Formats: sequence, structure tokens, C-alpha cells
Amino acid sequence: MKYVYQMFIFFIIVYQSLFSGARERLNKLIYTSEKDNIQLLSLIKHNFTCVSIIKDRRGNKYCVKQIKDSRAPKYSDCKLIIESFCSYIAETVDAPINVTEVIPKSVEFIGKIIEDKIASLHTFAHGRQLNKPGPYHDLNIRREFLQLINAKKKGLLSQKVKEKFMVSIITEMSRHYQLPIIVALDTFVGNRDRGKSNLFYDQRNDKFSGIDMGQAFRTNLSQFIYKFFVSILDNLSVQLNNSELKALVLYRDTLKKLLRKNKPEFLIELLDEIIIKSKIDLSSEVLSNQIKKYKENIDKIYISANELAKILDKVIKKQLVFRD
Ligand SMILES: Nc1ncnc2c1ncn2[C@@H]1O[C@H](COP(=O)(O)OP(=O)(O)O)[C@@H](O)[C@H]1O
Ligand SMILES: [Mg+2]
Repeated sequence: MKYVYQMFIFFIIVYQSLFSGARERLNKLIYTSEKDNIQLLSLIKHNFTCVSIIKDRRGNKYCVKQIKDSRAPKYSDCKLIIESFCSYIAETVDAPINVTEVIPKSVEFIGKIIEDKIASLHTFAHGRQLNKPGPYHDLNIRREFLQLINAKKKGLLSQKVKEKFMVSIITEMSRHYQLPIIVALDTFVGNRDRGKSNLFYDQRNDKFSGIDMGQAFRTNLSQFIYKFFVSILDNLSVQLNNSELKALVLYRDTLKKLLRKNKPEFLIELLDEIIIKSKIDLSSEVLSNQIKKYKENIDKIYISANELAKILDKVIKKQLVFRD
């Protein structure tokens, strides 16, 4: 009975996300005759990735993405599936990430230029990519993130140097209210690819938009960050300013919300749904091993993210004591 109830709730959630807002528009374009009114605007080729920019009859822009990596053809399909999967997770905390749906191999679509491969349809990220000159051009979340990870790897760094790393990433996050949400999402899904080209800033609306989550669920970022905090917590003496503390609290709260709304059993069912919808060939051993690995990582990363949320409580508590 409990199982039936859980299944019922699961289908309601999937149904709601399939047919609401941006996701509904993407699904209508993929599965109805609306796709006959699409116009191809341009094509971006980027290493192994082909991105077509298209426009519907109302003038809304979208991207169609395909990956042709001859070194790992099966893995490239997984990347698009993982991107779509992450965009569902992003919706649970309203993280500003492009909404993505998989276009199955068998479905014809304008902008799908590599035959006989799946593609993905993405909402368009407005504004300017951060690798181009403009506001927030100097923002570098990825560099700060990697410094944090390397600091742990080197192990021998002094408390002072580690505290400097910690403050530098929190300072970067405190520059805009959406950044702690994006960084918390990247932590939760283990995406270490938030380089400048994967983040857009729309100055007119003062909004960020992240793209490209294909590397997610391969690195346990939560575990790295958790271990980093373990190594500095006892002697923590650095004091964050108000906006830094606010950013850290939002990062922790978003992580907790992600943990509440994305239990591993739910995520694994969601991933299976997307895989079935994509109609990829599941008889391939390479592919099924890859999927198995993703599912193992979902479990591992969830446990680490939970530990991370708890140690963040302690870090924040210490900061509040410093203020008294
Ligand atoms: N949703 C999107 N909105 C706007 N531009 C996009 C979007 N997705 C991809 N692009 C463009 O296509 C390029 C390559 O896409 P990306 O998903 O980052 O693939 P890669 O894995 O090759 O980095 C991006 O740098 C960006 O210029
Ligand atoms: Mg990219």
C-alpha cells in the first residue's frame, strides 16, 4: 500500500513538472505538430558539441544540443540524459539553470544535425556569457571551487591559507543572491564544470542562468568540501562579514532543501523515467555500466551532502558566536 502511495506521489510530481511552464513548452515542441513551425537561426560547434539555436513561432529561442564524441559515443548520450536529470533537480529549488528535455533518437527535429543520435532541447540562456567582457566577467566560482578541492588534496596547507580559500569562495558567492543557489546545486549534483562559459548574466533583469550540467554525478564534491571543513572547523578563527554569512546561510539552506526534495530513491526513479523516455539502446553493456555508476554516485553523493549540511550548521553556529 505504501509503495502504491509513493508511486502515486511520484507520478503526480513528474506529471506536474512535465506540464508546467518552460518544461511544458519544451515537451509540446518535441511531441506535437508545433515543431513544424520552428526556424533554425544558427549553429555553434564547440569541441564535440553541436548547438543549434532555434526560434518558435512566438519568437521564443531554444537550443538543440548534440554530442559527437567518437572516443566515447555511449557516454555522450548519458551526458544529455544527466543534463536533463539535473534540470529537474534544479527546479526543486528554483535554481536558475536552463530547463532541458531529451529528444529521443527516433524523433525528428530541426537543429538535430547528427542523425541517429539523441539530442536535448534547452530553454535559451539570455544575457552575456561570463567569458565575454561585461558585468561579472571576473567572477570565477570554478577556480575557487577547485582551489578548495586542491587545498584538501595537498593536505599540508596551514589553517590560515585554508581559511583564505574558504573566505574567497564565500566572497564570490556573496556577490549576487542567485550564486549561493547555483553553487549549492552544483555541490549537490557534483558538477565541477561551472566555468565562465557555462554561466550567463542578463543585466536587464539582473538574473544569472547556468547551462551545461553534463559532467554532473561524476565527482563527489560534497565529500571534498565536507572534509575541507572538518580539517579547519576546530581552529576556525576567521570572521565572515554580514553579506558573506548571508551567502553561506543561503548555500546551506539550499543544500538542505535539495536533500529534502531529492531523496536517492526518488532520483533513481526519475533517472529511469528519463532513460526510458530517451529510448536509448539499453542492451549495450557500456551504457548499462555507465548508468549503474551514476546510480551508485547518486547514493554516495547524497550521504556526503547530508554530512556537509550538518558541518555547515556548525560553521555557521561558530560565526554567530563570534558576533556575540
Ligand atoms: N541553453 C543555452 N542558451 C544559450 N546558449 C547555449 C545554451 N546551451 C549551449 N549554449 C551555447 O553553446 C555552447 C556549447 O554548449 P555547452 O552546453 O556548454 O557544451 P560543451 O559541453 O561543449 O561546453 C555554449 O558555450 C553556449 O555558447
Ligand atoms: Mg560548456
